[in-house]
Amino acid sequence: MPEIAEQRKKIVLSGIQPSGNQFTLGNYIGAIRNWALMQDEFDCLYMVANEHSITVRQEPAKLRENTYRGLASLLAAGIDPQKSIVFIQSHVPAHAELAWILNCYTMFGELSRMTQFKDKSAKNADNINAGLFTYPALMAADILLYQADLVPVGADQKQHVEIARDIAGRFNGLYGNTFRLPEPYIPAVGAKIMSLAEPERKMSKSDANENAKILVMDKPEDIMRKFKRAVTDSYGEVSRGEDKPGINNLITIYSVATGKTPEQVEAEFAGKGYGDFKKACGEAVVEMLRPFREQVEDLMKNRDYLDQVAKAGADRAEHLALRTLAKVQKKVGFVPKP
Ligand code: TYM
Repeated sequence: MPEIAEQRKKIVLSGIQPSGNQFTLGNYIGAIRNWALMQDEFDCLYMVANEHSITVRQEPAKLRENTYRGLASLLAAGIDPQKSIVFIQSHVPAHAELAWILNCYTMFGELSRMTQFKDKSAKNADNINAGLFTYPALMAADILLYQADLVPVGADQKQHVEIARDIAGRFNGLYGNTFRLPEPYIPAVGAKIMSLAEPERKMSKSDANENAKILVMDKPEDIMRKFKRAVTDSYGEVSRGEDKPGINNLITIYSVATGKTPEQVEAEFAGKGYGDFKKACGEAVVEMLRPFREQVEDLMKNRDYLDQVAKAGADRAEHLALRTLAKVQKKVGFVPKP
């Protein structure tokens, strides 16, 4: 009955790691802000990907705290636990179980080509563990367990969604249709927010240079200072250009924060200097993040509420996940528990 199939809302799944003590403006613009916007049109699942975080060494107490902060951040960004399923990855053991199975259908060669693995193993040369290498199989499990159609991510995660699709296709080829093939869903604006200090590189949580990144919980004066110091160029004109990565990035940030198009931003600052523009960027970002930050602070004082959301979300997620897991176990030949 194709009409009924077409009426089905598409399923959306995404995740964010709770490593580092908070999210960056890149995570906010490229990911979680968009997740909130997708809730009415799609059936959405959003998770705090704490199992992914331990591929890099974490301090246990901090990871615990940051996991709660991650959950609070999703809610503060406008994700409504009544509309969407919000959960913590490790609360649904099916993720790790399916990841093991998918590991056996994921090739050494394809994992070796992952740019994130190459980057992270260069940065953590003393801890190139097997989890870091097989990370994409866990991410594939996250996505495939829920039969997700769309995976909203920033540009840097596109390759991981593509490998999830390849793994799903390989498994379906061997055992018949089991997984829906997911697609990356990348925002038209803000898919790659760049470092304020080195605008050729992406803004990253793990950047040691504090001036390179805006953290979502930064105080207004810190945000203003970081924008003031943002690296630009010597053209002195607020307009986009191929060799103007700093200004291109600031125009993107300002247009997302104000809802204006890049053309409108260029017109607004025609004839004005970078100083004025950087100040306006800082102010716009402060205003965009103010309600978010206040809400995270409130939610962090209410652990019971966060626990309640996490528990309800995990129960709903698990119910869906176990259906796929059971199907997969049967297909590969695991004996059901008598
Ligand atoms: P993570 O935690 O590194 O980042 C979370 C999301 O933020 C996006 N992002 C950015 N977007 C724009 N500009 C930037 N500078 C920027 N930096 C980060 C990322 O693209 C991502 O969408 N492996 C994932 C988490 C994950 C996941 C999943 C995602 C685990 N399981 C299943 C989707 C589906 C990660 O490490 O994202």
